[in-house]
Amino acid sequence: MTYDEQLTAIKDFSFQKMSGDATGHNFDHIQRVIKTAQRILKEEPADPLITLAAAYLHDVADDKLVSDPAALEQEIKQFLHSIDFSEEQVNEVLYITHNLSFSKSLSKNPPKLSLAGQIVQDSDRLDAIGAIGITRAVYYGGAHSETIYDPNIQPREKMNKAEYRNLNNETIINHFYEKLLKLTAMMNTPTAKKIAEKRHQYMLDFLDEFKAEWDAEK
Ligand code: ADP
Ligand code: NI
Repeated sequence: MTYDEQLTAIKDFSFQKMSGDATGHNFDHIQRVIKTAQRILKEEPADPLITLAAAYLHDVADDKLVSDPAALEQEIKQFLHSIDFSEEQVNEVLYITHNLSFSKSLSKNPPKLSLAGQIVQDSDRLDAIGAIGITRAVYYGGAHSETIYDPNIQPREKMNKAEYRNLNNETIINHFYEKLLKLTAMMNTPTAKKIAEKRHQYMLDFLDEFKAEWDAEK
């Protein structure tokens, strides 16, 4: 199979797996992550096939979306072999998709990612901040019946992996402090950091405006 044929097959597989989800993980998220990864790939010498394959597949076996992530990882493995990926390429892609999450980054020994993995992680995180990030947080919060904001519930800004995973009582605004405002400092590549800084400021301005309106100061 040619590179283009492999990528088309991966895109189709991802589309089929992702199109039914209503929590901000729709295929449009995947397409934005791909576009951003392509932009970063222009500046970084990573393997484009591994990077884009992992970007297309990064949420397919997410344990927030499927009840049996291990079974989906098996399915991805078989699929990649069926389009001529070597054992080594399959392992590289699965290592990335398995290890890029925010909660894994909070563990004591966060997994080390290859440059391809760092690009996918940056691209995924860039889609969680800025105007798109604000929209996704509101959309997710609505789908999970979160309160918009409660000034009496303080954000828990310092959390380890287990605490983050067991959050309850989350408000949409707290999600900014507990995750979204931390992402800029966690970017791996200079290209992503530069994009992130602009989106970060946009969120800070949004939060100022939101709180001023909440207190009827504006
Ligand atoms: P991803 O790794 O693709 O960013 P997540 O499953 O972590 O996916 O989250 C999907 C989207 O929903 C992200 O934009 C994220 O910021 C947002 N989100 C996740 N948890 C919450 C929450 N508790 N409240 C509001 N938004 C959330
Ligand atoms: Ni994602």
